[in-house]
Formats: sequence, C-alpha cells, structure tokens
Amino acid sequence: MKYYIATDHAAFGIKERVKDIIRSLGHEIIDLGTNSPDRVDYPDFAHKLSNAVLADEGSFGILICGTGIGMSLAANKHKGIRAALCHDAYTAQMARAHNDANVLCFGERVVGLGVIESICKTWSKTSFEGGRHANRVAKIEI
Ligand code: RB5
Repeated sequence: MKYYIATDHAAFGIKERVKDIIRSLGHEIIDLGTNSPDRVDYPDFAHKLSNAVLADEGSFGILICGTGIGMSLAANKHKGIRAALCHDAYTAQMARAHNDANVLCFGERVVGLGVIESICKTWSKTSFEGGRHANRVAKIEI
C-alpha cells in the first residue's frame, strides 16, 4: 500500500518515526513535508496531501499537527477525502471498518509514540466492511 505523509512544525519532530513505523509494516511512504521545524500553516500541508491522495487511487494519507484537529478540518474540505482524527487503536479500526477513511490524522501533542504505533498497525490491517456502512459513507458527500 502507498501512504503519503505531511505534518506542520508541531509534528515535524515525530515524522521520521512515523515513516519508520509505516515502512516496518511493509508499506511505501512518500513525504510531502514540512521539512524543518520552522513555523508553517497546517492547511497548506493538508491540501497538498489531500490532492496527492485523490490523484493516486487506493493510496492513504497521514496528517499530523499539534492536535490533529486543524489537519482533519482542512483535509475534509476535499470531495473524496475522509479524514479521521484518531486517538487510539479503536478509533483507527472504526475509521477504516465503518467510515472507509482514507486519511489518518492524529495529534503529536495528544498521543505518544506507543499509541501512534498501535494506531498505524490497526489502520493498516483493517479493511472497510462495506455492507450497511457503504450507503452511510455515500451519504457523507453533499
Ligand atoms: C500549531 O501551534 C497548532 O495550532 C497546530 O499544530 C494544530 O494543532 C492545529 O490544529
């Protein structure tokens, strides 16, 4: 599976660790920045990553900022992006199984590395259940 990742300055410090986690799970990961701890605006990176995921069918995105809130708000403005702010393995599992989320968001200031690892592992092994959830997901777009 191919993943894209982007962070703002608040999460720049853990980006390499998250890339290692995704690679250790057997996936490819493409880094869309930011590339330094200098202050940036999270929507710029959320939009860049959302466009990349939409242009590459079947790919996933990972967006990390301080809380994960700003990244998820911005990414969800894109038709076809379902960005889920996850706090633990359970929310990651439900985001994939019930919501068919294609962009994983979390907050560097909210979750620690152990939780991030369990979020990524669970996300990568969970498929969309379809069935009754497919109709609900289709109703998300207005
Ligand atoms: C940056 O200070 C912070 O506002 C940002 O990383 C994010 O948490 C916004 O939602």
